[in-house]
Amino acid sequence: MFLSNRIQKMQASPIRKLIPYAEQAKKRGIKVYHLNIGQPDIQTPSVFFEYIEKNKNKIVSYTHSAGLYELREKFAEYYSKYDVELSAEDVIVTVGGSEAITFAIAAVADSKDEIIVVEPFYANYNGFASMLDVNLVPVTAKAEDGYALPDNAEFEKKITPRTRGILFSNPSNPTGAVYSKQDMSRILELAKKHDLYVIVDEVYREFVFDGLKPFTVLEFKDYTDRIIMVDSLSKRFSLCGGRVGAFVTKNREIINMVMKMAQSRLSPPMISQIGSIGLLTLGEDYFSEVVEEYRRRRDIVFDEILKIEGVVCKKPKGAFYMSVKLPIEDAEDFVKWMLTDFNVDGATTMVAPLSGFYATDGAGKDEIRIAYVLEAESLKHACNIFRLGVNEYIKSRVKSTEV
Ligand SMILES: Cc1ncc(COP(=O)(O)O)c(C=O)c1O
Repeated sequence: MFLSNRIQKMQASPIRKLIPYAEQAKKRGIKVYHLNIGQPDIQTPSVFFEYIEKNKNKIVSYTHSAGLYELREKFAEYYSKYDVELSAEDVIVTVGGSEAITFAIAAVADSKDEIIVVEPFYANYNGFASMLDVNLVPVTAKAEDGYALPDNAEFEKKITPRTRGILFSNPSNPTGAVYSKQDMSRILELAKKHDLYVIVDEVYREFVFDGLKPFTVLEFKDYTDRIIMVDSLSKRFSLCGGRVGAFVTKNREIINMVMKMAQSRLSPPMISQIGSIGLLTLGEDYFSEVVEEYRRRRDIVFDEILKIEGVVCKKPKGAFYMSVKLPIEDAEDFVKWMLTDFNVDGATTMVAPLSGFYATDGAGKDEIRIAYVLEAESLKHACNIFRLGVNEYIKSRVKSTEV
């Protein structure tokens, strides 16, 4: 039967495609520490469930396509702490940040148009762009620079008459890099010069360390017409399965257009929206505790990684990821090998190869991403196994080339 080119060209998730190896390892009785996916282990705050319990309905109904008004108001109120004046009308509640990104790309780019992305980038951007037949054009951030935002000159090299916007996450998945207000300012200035949109995916906004203060791109009031901000409660409140995100812009024309897409998919999930109203009442205490927990974990991972000879890794300042350049040639082969050939007392560690997070062919082959989503003790153990694994893998490769 006929299958579209679009679906055939779509890349399988680089994070999930090695899962069968993990499943086989588990069947052999091996314990696998999963540092490969960004599913937080922190508990979803109980206020989410309390709100649902308190507001029980007899029917699980559609809501307004833009989301429950009360939730949109709560979102607007939440942004006021960042010196951003928003109203419920500036927010469309989406099915996770994923849908907000899809809406954003669909709204600003036609088939074969181009969106510039900073690579390595959240791998599902590939999927969203493929579905819309939009080309992602990469500008590369380098491990050696701590994956800092590349210079504007690098972006300018990639701008063509088909470029419609620039998309990146801040803080970054997969690198944990955090771009500053100065970075944001120069990107917005560049976007203005070339009349582009800037789509900033801020699903990890609060997760910044070492005294950095969270901010949002919406604070840049001189550029509001070209800014689309993508938000999500998935990571902030450990609500990945709740599927609540937001498409936010002060550009009324875009929001009116995007409402057409929102209407065509009818509604975000009602029950999760009710619980989310509760989540958005949580204050700074919640965040400081969670951020401190991730900071502690980051330090555990970083200390262990630095013990590996020949790695390139600068201490990341945000999100809950770390990307690492390893002294090996093929990280994907290494990740598989960890699952098929290596364990320490019956346990092994799974990380994500980074090549699938790049759009440039062959890039990132020697890099991996670690998601520090386990509590401290397990994380320490998992990182120790990872380090021993790298050393053993390198030794085994030397041996096999000698043979
Ligand atoms: C950078 C980034 N953006 C968006 C998403 C999508 O998240 P969700 O659709 O669960 O909100 C993720 C999930 O891992 C992410 O890491």
